[in-house]
Amino acid sequence: MHEHRFDAPEVAPLEPPTRVLMGPGPSDVHPRVLKAMSTPLIGHLDPAFVAIMNEVQELLRYGFRTRNRWTIPVSGTGSAAMEAAFTNLVEPGDCVAVPSNGYFGDRMASMVEKAGGRAVRVKAPWGQPLDSAEVEAVLAKHSPVIFAFVHAETSTGALQPDVPELTRIAHEHGALVIADTVTSLGGVELRVDEWGIDAAYSGGQKCLSCPPGASPLTLNERAMERIAARSEPVRSWYLDLSLLQSYWGDDRSYHHTAPISNVYALREALRLVSEEGLEDRWARHRKVAGGLKAGVVAMGLEMLPDDAWWLPSLNAVRVPDGVDAKRVIQILLSRYGIEISGGFGPLAGRIFRIGCMGHSCRPSNVLALLPALADALHEQGFAADMKDGVAAAAEAME
Ligand SMILES: Cc1ncc(COP(=O)(O)O)c(C=O)c1O
Repeated sequence: MHEHRFDAPEVAPLEPPTRVLMGPGPSDVHPRVLKAMSTPLIGHLDPAFVAIMNEVQELLRYGFRTRNRWTIPVSGTGSAAMEAAFTNLVEPGDCVAVPSNGYFGDRMASMVEKAGGRAVRVKAPWGQPLDSAEVEAVLAKHSPVIFAFVHAETSTGALQPDVPELTRIAHEHGALVIADTVTSLGGVELRVDEWGIDAAYSGGQKCLSCPPGASPLTLNERAMERIAARSEPVRSWYLDLSLLQSYWGDDRSYHHTAPISNVYALREALRLVSEEGLEDRWARHRKVAGGLKAGVVAMGLEMLPDDAWWLPSLNAVRVPDGVDAKRVIQILLSRYGIEISGGFGPLAGRIFRIGCMGHSCRPSNVLALLPALADALHEQGFAADMKDGVAAAAEAME
C-alpha cells in the first residue's frame, strides 16, 4: 500500500504584532491577568480550586450587583453564556420577545428557535434603543414567556436606557427578563437585582479585559424555578444547568473539565474591577470615552447615537461622505498598530466602531488614536482638525 508522508510543519515562534485594541472586543488584557493565566494548573476538583471557584462567584456577584446564588462563569465565549441562558429558559413552543435593533437580537432569535421556541420582534431601527411603548405593545399582543434585550448593542453603539421600566413592563405581563450585558458588565452602569433582571450573561473580552473563554452568567430564583419546572429536558448536554449544578452547586462533582487558566484570568480581571470599585469604573469609562467623543466631534465627525443612548464602551462614529471606512481602519492597523472596526448589516461602511473597554479605556489610548484617525481621514480627503480634536479630548478627560 502507498505510504503517506506527513512532514513536520515548520512554524516560527509565536510573535503576534503589538496592537492597541480599540475595536468591539477583545480589549487589551491587563498584565496582571496575563500573569494569572500563566499560573501553574491545579485540578478542577482540587479543594484549592473549589475555593477559587467560590471567589470567582463572589466577585461576579459584585460585578453584576446581584445576590443570585446561581452566578457562574460558563466555559466558552460570550455566546456560550448566551446559549446557556436561552437553551435552559426556553422550552419548545415558547414565545420569546427579542429586539430587532442590532445584530445580537438576531442571534437571540436564532438561539430561541434552536431551543424550539418562537421569536417575536420588538422593533426599533439599528442604532436606536427599544421604546418602552413598543415593548408594552408586543408583550400585550403576544404574551411571551420571556422578554430579552441587549443592554449594550456592540453592533450599533446604542445603550438601552430605562431598563427598570422595561423589566417592570415585562413582569406585569408575566414574562421573565434576559439581559445581554456582554459589552456593559464592568464598564457601564448595570444593576441586575435593583433593575429586576432575571437572567444576565456577559463575556470576558470586553469591559473586563480578560481573554475570552469563561463567560459570566447569573440567574435569579424565579429563573431557576422556571428551569426546574421544565416539562422537557434541555436540548444541550454541555450547557444544561441542571447538570452543571453538580459542579457549581454543593456537590462539586465532575461535569466537564473547567477551563482552569481562563478561570484564573477571570478571577484576576474581576479582582481589578473590585479594587477599582464598580462605580469608579463606570465613571472612568464615561470620562475617557467622553474624551474620545469630544475629540471626534471637535475633529468634525458625528456620533451615530443620541447622547441619551450613547454607549461609552463602544463608540459608533459616522463615516463622513466619500470616505472609505475599510481603508481608514486598515491605515490605523498597519501604520499605527491600533485596531478599530467598521459597521456591518445596515451600518456597513457607515460607522466606525471604536471600543473604550476595560484596560483599553485609558486617556493615553484616546490621545494616540485621535491623531492617527485624523491622519487616515486626511488621506481620504476629509480635513479632520487634529489639534482641536486632541485639545477637546484632553480637556474632557482632565
Ligand atoms: C452584545 C454581544 N452579545 C453577544 C456576543 C457574543 O460573544 P462572543 O463573541 O464572545 O461569543 C457579543 C460579542 O461581541 C456581543 O457583543
